[in-house]
Amino acid sequence: MDFQLNDEQLHLKKSVREFAEREIKPNVMKWDEAGEFPLATIKELGKLGMLGMIFPPEYGGAGMGYVEYVTAIEELSRVDGSVGIIVAAHTSLCSNHIFLAGNEAQKKKYVSKLSTGEFLGAWGLTEPSSGSDAGSARMTAVRKGNNWVLNGTKTFCTNGHYADVVVVLAVTDRAAHTHGISAFVVEKDTKGFRPGKKENKLGLRASDTAELIFDDCVIPAENLLGGEGQGFPDAMRVLDGGRISIAALSLGMAEGAYDAALKYSKQRRQFGKAISDFQAIQWKLADMATEIDAARLQTYRAAWLRDRGGLVTREVAMAKMAATESAQRTIDRAVQIFGGRGVVQGEITERLYRDIRALRIYEGATEVQKLIIARELLNEARVHEKNR
Ligand code: CAA
Repeated sequence: MDFQLNDEQLHLKKSVREFAEREIKPNVMKWDEAGEFPLATIKELGKLGMLGMIFPPEYGGAGMGYVEYVTAIEELSRVDGSVGIIVAAHTSLCSNHIFLAGNEAQKKKYVSKLSTGEFLGAWGLTEPSSGSDAGSARMTAVRKGNNWVLNGTKTFCTNGHYADVVVVLAVTDRAAHTHGISAFVVEKDTKGFRPGKKENKLGLRASDTAELIFDDCVIPAENLLGGEGQGFPDAMRVLDGGRISIAALSLGMAEGAYDAALKYSKQRRQFGKAISDFQAIQWKLADMATEIDAARLQTYRAAWLRDRGGLVTREVAMAKMAATESAQRTIDRAVQIFGGRGVVQGEITERLYRDIRALRIYEGATEVQKLIIARELLNEARVHEKNR
């Protein structure tokens, strides 16, 4: 077993950290307060090859694996979770759905441009009446000659207003339930498609969260992604990858909180000494570091397993749940160490406290992860019993 990053991975980590400190950190509060989408920075990340890390070079990607991808998301999110979620939704939801399910022509046409940042991508699964129960989607796609006609509304789509390409799930055969849902690629400016309301969120405010509205939107038949009725299982496979990046986002944000709290505890003096000399603070730092370490091990194990192929559903769900839940606790402890300053607008802890909350919900709430883990455990137990 090797728990260390290799030289190239360490070099990547250092480069992303330097980029984040130099290009992102000075703007984080401005973007957060204004709810400003950092388009120029995202385009710059595209030029650096950070928007297609997990795709092969023939599709414009960097040909790296999930371990490298997770390393980059962690480092970006250590400075700004909004940038982390923009990159993650673009890469492991939109581009990866096309990469996993698309045919050669679709991969060449879309993944190549998404990987370089020429295109930005969004992914639409959730609807006003189907969140955790994603299989109850209502949006429809009806075949008419050589076209599909899309009708319905998606909600909570990261990057929706800025996306050149969106992947959406729609019902093509209602009677078949989850086997009657298909995926489609829709390009911006297609007649009948428009982004709707921009959500004004508690945290991750520089990331865009949009409604996507389809009103008799006609797209060519070749924009079907994967087989008809394959959209839902493909979306679940896509989420198996996406949830690793949400774990990495939380890990990075927890590290940002820990670094700030450690530094502050050594500077801040009370009762004649640095507050880091008090056991009350030391225990908090110990709990924070231990939970971060556990989240890192689970996140990187999931990424490592994913790079080796095979099913990682259980490990990914565990990592996503553990990393997001523990990051919330870590950030809360950082606020406590900062004391009154911790809740003041402009402090890193105040922003992180708002930013982390959504990650226990995005890409499947903690309750959904528990459901997935329990199903996996019970299936495994059933197989063991059968083979005994
Ligand atoms: N890999 C491959 N196939 C899978 C799979 C996986 N991980 N999980 C399920 N499937 C297949 C199943 O095998 C099944 O096929 P069969 O019938 O042939 O066996 C089919 O898909 C249906 O699966 P389920 O019966 O498990 O479906 P379900 O209706 O019980 O739902 C669920 C399961 C796990 C609750 C699912 O609905 C789910 O993940 N819900 C949460 C949705 C979610 O994460 N939304 C986040 C939106 S994206 C977002 O937040 C991003 C953002 O930008 C903010």
